[in-house]
Amino acid sequence: MTIDPPVLILAPIGQDAKLSMQVLAEAGITGVIVKSINELCEKMQQPTACILLTEESITRESSGWLKEVLNSQETWSDLPIILMTSQRERYFTTQHILEIFSGIGNISLLERPVRTVTLVAAISVALRARHRQYQVRELLVDQQTALRQRDDFLSMASHELKTPLTSLKLQAQMRKRAIERGDASVYSHEKVDSLIHSTEKQVDRLSHLVDEMLDITRIRNGKLSIHPERVDLNVLAREVFDSFATQFQGVGSRLELSPAALFGFWDRFRLEQVITNLFTNALKYGGGQPIEIKTYAKADYAYFEVKDHGIGIDSEHHSRIFYRFERVAESRNIGGLGLGLYITRQIVESHHGTIRVESELGRGSRFIVKLPLKEKVYDHF
Ligand SMILES: Nc1ncnc2c1ncn2[C@@H]1O[C@H](COP(=O)(O)OP(=O)(O)OP(=O)(O)O)[C@@H](O)[C@H]1O
Ligand SMILES: [Mg+2]
Repeated sequence: MTIDPPVLILAPIGQDAKLSMQVLAEAGITGVIVKSINELCEKMQQPTACILLTEESITRESSGWLKEVLNSQETWSDLPIILMTSQRERYFTTQHILEIFSGIGNISLLERPVRTVTLVAAISVALRARHRQYQVRELLVDQQTALRQRDDFLSMASHELKTPLTSLKLQAQMRKRAIERGDASVYSHEKVDSLIHSTEKQVDRLSHLVDEMLDITRIRNGKLSIHPERVDLNVLAREVFDSFATQFQGVGSRLELSPAALFGFWDRFRLEQVITNLFTNALKYGGGQPIEIKTYAKADYAYFEVKDHGIGIDSEHHSRIFYRFERVAESRNIGGLGLGLYITRQIVESHHGTIRVESELGRGSRFIVKLPLKEKVYDHF
């Protein structure tokens, strides 16, 4: 439960403070009486809705303290002050007060005697304005978070792009030097073959990164559309599995397909991306242990599971990893932008499916994708 910030009331002489408190309480507004400008300035350090004060509570000296506190407000804050004017002639006049606070204080005047309805109306307006200010503060915080995330992403993305680029550049320099030295072995079939192979690998990595970045932009602009067609999940899983044959053989893995075909109305290219992302993660975070993949049908849904025996994920991170740029500390020394699962989730959800994870830190992970088998009309998102 959030507690509304109070109206601070400073009216040290007579009954004004008590009466104002009563009026506010009847209107459901929280008030707090303070005894002096000093106490007021102190309380203002906490969240405050507005200040209600009588003119006679302010002296030339104390107005300086108040001015200081008001001056140190954050940019989003413009604390409303309601000043109840004095009926008596005073040396330090309303005009003086207004001059002192001009430009820094959001002051409105209420002529005394004040009718109850006028007081409540004035305070309600101030509270509304203050509420807006708090909303602006929240927006500012959100924007700062988004900016920080973007900066983090940019530095991560440049680091990720730099790695394959550096490796390509090094290879090119090494070949160049070998050619300059007259080393004929650079032209051998074996060397050329290995060069092509590693160049292809780095280029694939670069294009994967660029694709991910483009997908993020598309998702944000609402342009990632899906083009459904009749697809057999078994066939697709087998195809992608075969394209990872070398890596899967390296760690040992099992592909267990449902006995019956799993036809659905899905976007083939996007589902391929889902499978690829989960395979890549299982290989990246699987600690070199065997990976088990399976497909099966239950009720009206097709299931696709990828299980590894690697570093695992603590349960507190299970939902967060499906969001943009979210990575878990344990995987920091393994390259990645934290986008794969976000894109995967967007694709699965756009097929009216779900994705979830079962995992424990240090004990491997199982990712489970559930897709409807029946034909659906898809929305574009
Ligand atoms: N199989 C897994 N085992 C352990 N942790 C995983 C696994 N899959 C994902 N994670 C955790 O979830 C995070 C998010 O995964 P995601 O695929 O979105 O990003 P990434 O792999 O870091 O980068 P990329 O954008 O290249 O996919 C990873 O950084 C990792 O911390
Ligand atoms: Mg990934």
